[in-house]
Amino acid sequence: METHLQSTDLKNDTLLRALAREPTAHTPVWLMRQAGRYLPEYNATRAKAGSFLKLAKTPALAAEVALQPLARFPLDAAILFSDILTVPDAMGLGLYFAEGEGPRFERPLRDEAAIMRLAAPDPTAELRYVLEAVRETRNALGNRVPLIGFSGSPYTLACYMIEGSGSDDWRTVKEMLYARPDLLHRILDVNARAVTDYLNAQIEAGAQAVMLFDTWGGSLTAAQYEEFSLSYMRRVLSQVRNAPRIVFTKGGGGWLESIAASGCEAVGLDWTVAPGDARRRIGASVALQGNLDPAVLSAPPARAREEVRRVLDAFGAAPGHVFNLGHGISPHARVDTVEAIVDEVCAYSRQLRPQAR
Ligand code: CP3
Repeated sequence: METHLQSTDLKNDTLLRALAREPTAHTPVWLMRQAGRYLPEYNATRAKAGSFLKLAKTPALAAEVALQPLARFPLDAAILFSDILTVPDAMGLGLYFAEGEGPRFERPLRDEAAIMRLAAPDPTAELRYVLEAVRETRNALGNRVPLIGFSGSPYTLACYMIEGSGSDDWRTVKEMLYARPDLLHRILDVNARAVTDYLNAQIEAGAQAVMLFDTWGGSLTAAQYEEFSLSYMRRVLSQVRNAPRIVFTKGGGGWLESIAASGCEAVGLDWTVAPGDARRRIGASVALQGNLDPAVLSAPPARAREEVRRVLDAFGAAPGHVFNLGHGISPHARVDTVEAIVDEVCAYSRQLRPQAR
């Protein structure tokens, strides 16, 4: 893979080496949603900004919160502080957060005319604040660890764009899928172009790896997953080439072989997948990321350490594992437990393969 970014300048390139399935002295670790409400300093910066969206749209503050978890824990990567829904917001759908209710759109996509007008935003214009946040975060990191950029998958973005909010059953999305698949395909086509341009712009601005969050692909049937989610992620991946690519479909355990063959360097595993099974099914062609049950973050530290060792044993000593959760950290996570988890990953994985560099 051609990469124009100098990983050699990095003081800690463990993540990039693991994504390339090279041996590392310890298993690299980062946590989905590692910056967030379980950290008191995050809540303080968020209060200073006024709201989550204001925080995400102020590059200096976004960089500040992206670095907060690294100041507490010896993590092997930073992740851009932003949200997957910035893309539909830039398309004009009007993103807002009602306190305690999660994300909503003022203008969800419900009629054919609006869907036909939908266009991919120019990331250097409408999403300039995200690219600024990438640059500021890279600057603040000073080559300590790599910075991960990200986007929602075309299908997961479409879910929120059509439904107008989160949902337990995505009823409006499924109605469109069965009654007017042509309209859903039209949205996914625009989203695939938007996500491609967005990820390439993040890499250009300094992101050293990228991740596609397909949070809702797992709500589809196997055939629909191929048609409405994976085929569009494949299209994105084929056009995003200058950084290692991680694909995570929550609930995608049944389709690991096809996800691994989609054109990514690493597959994210949720907590329902047995790592040994995943490795046997996929082979050594890609790295694996995951897959501690996020509920462990509410357990006492000693109990969490046991679960970390269980996950590391299950992945085994072969190269190509990035330790993470099976989904994002909740606001209820215990800070002492997060600290114990990161510490245990470093300490125990070193013992697992003391021979490596
Ligand atoms: O991992 C990180 O630290 C990077 C930041 C990040 C956020 N959202 C910040 C955030 C990332 C990678 C995301 C991705 C995201 N956002 C996904 C995909 C991953 C997943 O969790 O499935 C999805 C589906 C979203 C959409 C979204 N944004 C939801 C459903 C919510 C509400 C969640 C909740 O718990 O209330 C958000 C808001 C959000 N995004 C917060 C953060 C820190 C909390 C907002 C706050 O501070 O009030």
